[in-house]
Amino acid sequence: MAFPQQRPRRLRRSEPIRRLVREHELSVNDLIQPLFVVPGTGVRDEIPSLPGQFHLSVDRAVEEASKLAGLGVPGLILFGLPEQKDERASQACSEDAPVQRACAAIADAGLDVLVIADTCLCEYTSHGHCGIVNDRGEVDNDATLAVLAKTAVSQARAGADIVAPSDMMDGRVRAIRAALDEACLPEIPILSYAAKFASAFYGPFRDAAGSAPEFGDRRGYQMDPANGDEAVREVALDIEEGADMVIIKPGLPYLDLVRRVKDAFEYPTGVYHVSGEYAMLEAAAARGWLDRRRAVEESLLACKRAGADFILTYYAGEVAGWLAGR
Ligand code: PBG
Repeated sequence: MAFPQQRPRRLRRSEPIRRLVREHELSVNDLIQPLFVVPGTGVRDEIPSLPGQFHLSVDRAVEEASKLAGLGVPGLILFGLPEQKDERASQACSEDAPVQRACAAIADAGLDVLVIADTCLCEYTSHGHCGIVNDRGEVDNDATLAVLAKTAVSQARAGADIVAPSDMMDGRVRAIRAALDEACLPEIPILSYAAKFASAFYGPFRDAAGSAPEFGDRRGYQMDPANGDEAVREVALDIEEGADMVIIKPGLPYLDLVRRVKDAFEYPTGVYHVSGEYAMLEAAAARGWLDRRRAVEESLLACKRAGADFILTYYAGEVAGWLAGR
């Protein structure tokens, strides 16, 4: 049947009928808010490359977590800027580092919000790479695994509900699972950044986290943006190694993979709407070139339509407020 029997516009003529046939909806339950934790107290400094996002000391991060919990946001993900960085990322697994202290403080506050710890070394290494660099100047995969596993255990011990490895080393999910189990933490889920691309869209985050590599780039471990089949294989490997949930990252440019991964594995699948995507929307909206709220809602809804179960987004708190009519 075709025109004139078929007139798709019949179902678009009013808001009630559009609501009736709507396939996807943004819900507060889909959202995870990233937070950047720094040393000190009383710190809430706006991040220049991420206007509207803040460097928070632990006390202020607890306040923010409490606000997010009040809005019904189910999770937040913590990134940390340590006091000192070194070649071996020693602060990554320190219980005095901002992320571990924030995990503990938010857990102590008894808030109804999941604390996810991003497990990676790039915020902690002096050279800014996501792993241990050997004498040849290469990121040494297997030497990095032990440090990542130790970091994940220290984050879970501090009070993280979930650990989220974002380094793209081979075998890290298996190493982290084994270490958590060994440490009597078998109930801690692993949210793996399973397909993470070597993307230009992380620029503002690297400014925020002070984690831009000092030499070279991340193409030796993060994925080539040209590869889709490989992303599906990466996800398969992480699931085999014990990942409980997977992330595709970045978001909008990679929604084809969200759909493929969801269809192939029927696994809890998240997408990271990253800093560069946020920055693009903010920059255009600030110039009056986009309707900010509509563009944000459309972007996040597109993630849902592609198959994402949840979205890591710098807009989580704000969108939760919109959804609650605040
Ligand atoms: C750590 C990490 C990065 C992001 C999340 N975890 C940066 C990177 O890989 O360089 C980026 C998040 C964003 O851009 O919003 N490896």
